[in-house]
Amino acid sequence: MLDYPLLIVSAFILFIPAFIANPSAVITGGHYPMDFGKNFPDGRRILGDGKTWSGYFGGSLIGVGSGLILLAIFHFAHVLPYPVYGLNLEQVAVALFAMSFGSLTGDVLGSFIKRRINIPRGGKGSLLDMWPFALVSFLFLYIFARGFFMNYYGNVIGILTILIITPPLHRAVNIIGYRMKRKDVPW
Ligand code: CTP
Ligand code: MG
Repeated sequence: MLDYPLLIVSAFILFIPAFIANPSAVITGGHYPMDFGKNFPDGRRILGDGKTWSGYFGGSLIGVGSGLILLAIFHFAHVLPYPVYGLNLEQVAVALFAMSFGSLTGDVLGSFIKRRINIPRGGKGSLLDMWPFALVSFLFLYIFARGFFMNYYGNVIGILTILIITPPLHRAVNIIGYRMKRKDVPW
């Protein structure tokens, strides 16, 4: 019998670095467009000015840093899901990098698709603004941190938990960013 509440809570808590990484790009972003200002053959920007290298690396590293802080808190507070079952610190660190860089890589993929279907930079992408970062985080975890992925997201419950919680969470974070004048639009 699977312990569903534990699975759901662990899946959510362990994904917090990926959740933090994505919106943190606004803090460091705005410098060095990732597409170098170039257009795609369809005549529109490959990614647009909303995707910059400073946001990509800054957001990813803030995600990694937040994960290290969380790990320390779990460690000292003896809170679940620490210890991260059967994984050593190095494997956990790799998982942090994988999910954080996956988060910002998925964000880039979402913008690429938005530009191809003619949604301008900053335009509302609905699920294209929300799910790609989570899906590519899963993909990176699967590739680079298979043990971690299988423990927490190998069961479909873990993935569903994240996909279901992401839209309301994304919305809430963007409204906060908008009120703090960090974002021009509340989405
Ligand atoms: N940002 C950045 N680099 C990234 C991701 C985000 O510099 N790789 C910054 C940009 O200033 C961006 C802001 O964070 O405007 C908000 O991110 P996001 O909503 O993902 O970008 P949008 O401007 O909405 O552009 P898009 O339509 O391409 O998603
Ligand atoms: Mg946006």
